[in-house]
Amino acid sequence: MFSSTLSRGLLAAALAATSTVACTLQQVTGFGSNPTNVGMYICVPAKLAANPAVIVAMHYCSGTAQAYYSGTQYSNLAEQYGFIVIYPNAPTSGGCWDVHSTETLTHNAGGDSLGVANMVRYTISKYNVDTKKVFMTGTSSGAMMTNVLAGAYPDLFVAGAAFSGVPYGCFAGASEWNSQCANGQLIKTAQAWGDQVRAGYPGYTGTRPRLQLWHGTTDTTLYYQNFVEANKQWSNVFGISLTKNNTNTPLPNYTQMIYGDGKQYVAYSAVGVGHTVPVRESDVLDWFGITGNQFPSDGSGSTPTTTLQTVTTTSTPSTPTVPSPGGSIAKYGQCGGTGWQGSGTCEAGSTCKYSNDWYSQCL
Ligand SMILES: *[C@@H]1O[C@H](CO)[C@@H](O)[C@H](O)[C@H]1NC(C)=O
Ligand SMILES: *[C@@H]1O[C@H](CO)[C@@H](O)[C@H](O)[C@H]1NC(C)=O
Repeated sequence: MFSSTLSRGLLAAALAATSTVACTLQQVTGFGSNPTNVGMYICVPAKLAANPAVIVAMHYCSGTAQAYYSGTQYSNLAEQYGFIVIYPNAPTSGGCWDVHSTETLTHNAGGDSLGVANMVRYTISKYNVDTKKVFMTGTSSGAMMTNVLAGAYPDLFVAGAAFSGVPYGCFAGASEWNSQCANGQLIKTAQAWGDQVRAGYPGYTGTRPRLQLWHGTTDTTLYYQNFVEANKQWSNVFGISLTKNNTNTPLPNYTQMIYGDGKQYVAYSAVGVGHTVPVRESDVLDWFGITGNQFPSDGSGSTPTTTLQTVTTTSTPSTPTVPSPGGSIAKYGQCGGTGWQGSGTCEAGSTCKYSNDWYSQCL
């Protein structure tokens, strides 16, 4: 036990020491419906895992895809572990994500969230991504967007990690900035916050993305109360409550708050830390299950192994599938594309439009 933990530690240290190569950031266009014109930048490592994971990494206000690519370690880690990173770029001049419109907060209804969702769908098809390994993370506005996507696209994302955000729907109804929410003055019951999430994708009964939240107690941009409110929200959605605090974890003055059995929701409260909670990529990758051994969380399991293979960049897509007659597909739903397994026809008022070889959509 001790020696296996030790050897994993040594392995991690050895890998970290050699992680000098980063995947290259490239812009992608024509990935599907993108009503607000979110920019798509992708980083595909030279050696990609078979059925790779994908991480959507979202920047803060005034940030860019390039800035988050340069400012975090995911591009190096992608080369080490063979996963893909998507860096969306917010379309507004202020560089904040739309986390307020009804469209963005609602499944397949439009807004920035639909653009991001379609980047993910495109990437899943094009690179044969394992749909059990679709992840998201972000800082500040990108953390808010992580909460938004968790509510509006629970079918697409498997896990998320948010550094200094606000609850899903906290900015609802505002134009771009919601001071009441940001200042920690929007207080709701756990039930009301949970109902808001459930309204993001009405009728959805499937698994919801596992979430890891981080927040500093002295944050004066998005006040700490937002962390308290988010904990109410997601514990209601998951139907679990706080079971254990691990103090000074993973750093002095950080408290790891375990909800339920710790497999669906974990929150990190950082005493004396402001709005900039340093991104902890290693804890994020552990949470996603790309590295380490999250389950069981006592470290007694085995380290996942990944086989890397050289990427063939000149893939020839086969003919997009044509939907067979069947049920009705909601507007903005997928209705064709390489690898698409569904069937049905677009609901009244929408028709199946070709976006790219990997994605056709009811528009
Ligand atoms: C757990 O830690 C959080 C954050 O410091 C704190 O608000 C909460 O009261 C603690 N709960 C228990 C039961 O210790
Ligand atoms: C932890 O918090 C205490 C009290 O706020 C502070 O004095 C100390 O410097 C902090 N320690 C670290 C390692 O940040």
